[in-house]
Amino acid sequence: MTDTSVKRTLGTCYYPEHWPQEMWQDDAKRMVEAGLTWVRIGEFAWSLLEPTPGSYDFDWLDKAIACLGGAGLQVVLGTPTATPPRWMIDKYPDMLAVDRDGKPRKFGSRRHYCFSHEGYKAECARIVTELAKRYGQNPHVAAWQTDNEYGCHDTTISYSSAAKSAFQEWCRIQYSGADNNGDIAALNKAWGNVFWSMSYAAFEDIDLPNLTVTEPNPAHSLAFRQFTSDQVVAFNRLQVEIIRAHSSAPIAHNYMGRITDFDHFAVGEDLDIASWDSYPLGFLADRAGASEAHQKDFMRQGDPDFQAFHHDLYRSVGKGRLWVMEQQPGPVNWAPYNPDPLPGMVRLWTWEAFAHGAEAVLYFRWRQFPAAQEQLHAGLMRPDNVESAGYYEAKQVAEELKTADGAAAMQAEVAIIFDYDADAAWDIQPHNTDTSYFAVVMDHYRALRKLGLNIDIISSDAALDGYKLIVAPGLIFMSESLKQRLAQIEAQLVIGPRAASRVEQMQTPNPLPPALPNLDVTVIRLDSYREDMPVRLSEAGHAVCYCEVLDTAETALLTKETGEAIAITNGHISYVGAILDEAALRYLYTEICATADIQTLDMPDGVRRRQTTTEEFWFNYASEARQIADGTIEPAGVLRKVK
Ligand code: GAL
Repeated sequence: MTDTSVKRTLGTCYYPEHWPQEMWQDDAKRMVEAGLTWVRIGEFAWSLLEPTPGSYDFDWLDKAIACLGGAGLQVVLGTPTATPPRWMIDKYPDMLAVDRDGKPRKFGSRRHYCFSHEGYKAECARIVTELAKRYGQNPHVAAWQTDNEYGCHDTTISYSSAAKSAFQEWCRIQYSGADNNGDIAALNKAWGNVFWSMSYAAFEDIDLPNLTVTEPNPAHSLAFRQFTSDQVVAFNRLQVEIIRAHSSAPIAHNYMGRITDFDHFAVGEDLDIASWDSYPLGFLADRAGASEAHQKDFMRQGDPDFQAFHHDLYRSVGKGRLWVMEQQPGPVNWAPYNPDPLPGMVRLWTWEAFAHGAEAVLYFRWRQFPAAQEQLHAGLMRPDNVESAGYYEAKQVAEELKTADGAAAMQAEVAIIFDYDADAAWDIQPHNTDTSYFAVVMDHYRALRKLGLNIDIISSDAALDGYKLIVAPGLIFMSESLKQRLAQIEAQLVIGPRAASRVEQMQTPNPLPPALPNLDVTVIRLDSYREDMPVRLSEAGHAVCYCEVLDTAETALLTKETGEAIAITNGHISYVGAILDEAALRYLYTEICATADIQTLDMPDGVRRRQTTTEEFWFNYASEARQIADGTIEPAGVLRKVK
């Protein structure tokens, strides 16, 4: 990663179509007064832009862009393809995504489309072309957003008939025979279809892996996940290519927290900016994977590591430019509980994003809307057009940015490899109902961050130079070239559990995993057990849910109280054959960081640290004041020190 300094800016998400035109001028003026420079618009406005098929109304959008731009704001223009108008469903009743139970998702909210429907894709290409032609050279349109939140509301995976025929074609291409016509025998062999008489005679026989009597073949499921991800990449690319033909402004998509059912690294290759939507309190209950106690402790602050994790992940998706396209500005409406943030948290979340390299943070939304689904979702302005608490915190950050408006993200000493295929494989074959790939990676991330460290999250193809420690938890697929690359680096390496445990379409490798050069360890049996029956370790903590039986001659790092090694090392590569709890991870990483010559800190509960090339930040997520080396840090406190 190159160290390039970024300028830090703020903005908001705005829906001019929700408000009378007479308000726009004043809104724009107040945005500028608040210190905002970006305004994202347009991403749900298709039914206004094209009220009936083929008849366009761009007049209002022309005026909105002129008004906002005229006030000095830079516009991010969203393509409206997440909300096809009602008439579209009449035109293409089969464009709706179909859920796992075979039921079509209905019109009446948003994201009601299947990524594989060719008719809908053509409609998207058409509306994006109209927008790109009209606004591609508009001086106020300074960035684009494709669609809105791929994967939101569980809409990536669709079991529609469009998906079925596209999947059959995808399989044919994957297994194209000598005549380029598809080699079904090769697919049968790769998937292991001899099992349970599942062999196909033709690609047209292949159905989607839902509604099977018991679980479908994992190879079938993995292929379908990879196909689905490719459909998202293609859908996004279609829009990007059209926009690029008419505009040189950078293009972003707004990813989400803990959505892993498409490969963000692959989508990101086509985009200029990786942005994401950060809702720390919304995520706490069901995405951050937090215990009840943790949820109570951080009810008004959000998980101290969940946002940071996504900043670090998305910073490496694409070309290294990171934005937060939507930032929670107050209570949201859609989570199981929707608390008011602790005063100061909107500011803290914003600074945490900047500390992780974000160029821009845009608050969602400018003004709370008095009707429809998000009636109870706070904005920077209340529905009566009076400033909300979040507004003042955003304004405070804008003031603070006057003297702290940029810094470079520095390469961390520690990298964690994150892999979307590993997530798919773990999801398809969890082997324990209480585990997931995301949770395992997050646990390692959290343990390292609690030691005061900066962490880069990287793809398995990324350059590995310059790191002192590389961690690859749960990396189910490891290509031979990755194994070789990892064996050659000088950094300390921690891999496992389940490392390299599947090859190709979910087959068990022979020799048994992990089969790493220079490391004498073989996983000979798996032990998956109840979460509330953890296995105690001699050094510290427990192995929870899942533990491997290792055949090894290497030095033990962690052992069960009964004496068997569950983590071993050859001094350079360590293999961890278990899911570890917090105490065990802390012990492990304290030891390994010492070997790797990485200085760790004993962070007070709820306090996190993050460094840029020129700054050191301390964030207090705890609901009480905490002591740090430089004094006291209040709840929701941000301490920024220039180095
Ligand atoms: C996001 C979405 C926005 C809005 C917001 C509410 O997921 O992109 O359009 O719905 O949530 O928090």
